[in-house]
Amino acid sequence: MTKVKKYLLYFIIAISFIIVCTAGFMAWTFVSSKTSTVGELSFDNPLRIPELLEPTIDSEGRKVFDLTFNNGEVEFIDGKITKTWGISAPYLAPTLRAERGDEVVVNIKNDVNEPTTLHWHGMILPAEMDGGPHQLISPGKVWSPTWTISQPASTTWFHPHLHGETAEHVYRGAAGLFILDDKESNELNLPDDYGINDIPLIVQDKSFNNDGSMSNESKIFSNVGILGDEILVNGTHSPNFEATTNLVRLRILNASTARVYNFEFDDKRTYQLIATDGGLVETPVEIESLLLSPGERAEIVVPIKPNDSVVLQSNSPDLESPFWSQRYNGGDDTFDILKIQSGNDLTELPMIPSELVKIDWPLPSDVVETRHFELTGTSLINGKEMDMNRVDEVVVAGTTEIWKLVNPREETYHNFHAHGIHFSVLDVNGEEPPEYLKGWKDTVYLPPTGKVTVIARFESYVNHEVPYMFHCHILMHEDQGMMGQFIVVEPGANPEKTLPSHDHTHNH
Ligand code: C2O
Ligand code: CU
Ligand code: CU
Repeated sequence: MTKVKKYLLYFIIAISFIIVCTAGFMAWTFVSSKTSTVGELSFDNPLRIPELLEPTIDSEGRKVFDLTFNNGEVEFIDGKITKTWGISAPYLAPTLRAERGDEVVVNIKNDVNEPTTLHWHGMILPAEMDGGPHQLISPGKVWSPTWTISQPASTTWFHPHLHGETAEHVYRGAAGLFILDDKESNELNLPDDYGINDIPLIVQDKSFNNDGSMSNESKIFSNVGILGDEILVNGTHSPNFEATTNLVRLRILNASTARVYNFEFDDKRTYQLIATDGGLVETPVEIESLLLSPGERAEIVVPIKPNDSVVLQSNSPDLESPFWSQRYNGGDDTFDILKIQSGNDLTELPMIPSELVKIDWPLPSDVVETRHFELTGTSLINGKEMDMNRVDEVVVAGTTEIWKLVNPREETYHNFHAHGIHFSVLDVNGEEPPEYLKGWKDTVYLPPTGKVTVIARFESYVNHEVPYMFHCHILMHEDQGMMGQFIVVEPGANPEKTLPSHDHTHNH
């Protein structure tokens, strides 16, 4: 063999070795990146139902709720203690409930050793009461926002929003539900016996270390942040629920930091979708599966038979991602989430009406402005990272706008959430939105190379100095800067686009 031939041979052997190793590594990561708990749970733990927090009434007739951020310890997994955060509970929070027209005050005390905030996700309220990154609550301090409930019945939620720390604070367990009622919804005879046939389901994924502590590690090649391999519902691992009625209403909240779920039952039974993020839909829609990205809510009514046994699962959510990122971002994962069973005797509830509410949709003919938001990488909206002092958009109170949301690349999925408004989805990739998006929304999934057009009518709360946020609700992306700010001003105003750099804390 000539010298040249010999080197060529070594070279080919070396290259082949590298190719085989790389392929082996890719195959291994590909296989190990799929998570499934289907068939593996014992469903031994009764589903925890967050208690309803009773308000006191103050001298002005306002409903007053008291909440405290605290450290906690919880035994999620038998025999293992996990350190957590909670809000007036070891993990998560009690449920708040109020009626349209109520004036509310919430006193929020910070008893954890770090600054945080508490944001009312889905609530229509003045920007300075919103609890975004500008309304800091320092350790030991109390923040007391107050506002009037002025929106339809819906399932809203609350969670910390400290810039750069939101994922961490939510993951530790600081989150809860704020359920709103109104006259129309009360008269519809929907299942509304809290904890009996009207059941909150706060769905979160977690990973635990061997010592029981929460793991914050991202999965290999994933670019969305934490994707846990265990599911908690209302902080219950492996939960079961005993139904006593022939219909059960589930208020599902995806309170995970990154994971997208595709909710289905193991026997593929259909159920009725009655509400989206911002309230009841006009007519219930019969569906079999439901995609919810982080921050989104849906209310469904599930039919239950005597001696029933059915498992709510999440089955391989179609992220509309390319093959590899579908796998690495959880798109091939399957989970058993909650077992629902029943005895022989079920209380019969009235049928769900075929008409629920009449929605006063914002009209394309009223649109005064169209804005474009392009989400790229894991930190940019329109090429910019979040800046607490920059006003990105100025909106005129009471006007209607179209927002065009674009995820131009294949690299990752996003979603889009805006504070202070509800929107309606006009189209997804130029086509009519799926049935489960035909209601008020405040958060919407934005698949790779996806385009979503939404329309919103802005409220009348005006403030030149305190902005509302819009952002990706994949919390790691939000923390990395995929967030912007808009202010709402009166017609004809000419506001500063730089915010004063004092913070807008109203602690005492
Ligand atoms: Cu649920 Cu700005 O957040
Ligand atoms: Cu929000
Ligand atoms: Cu994102």
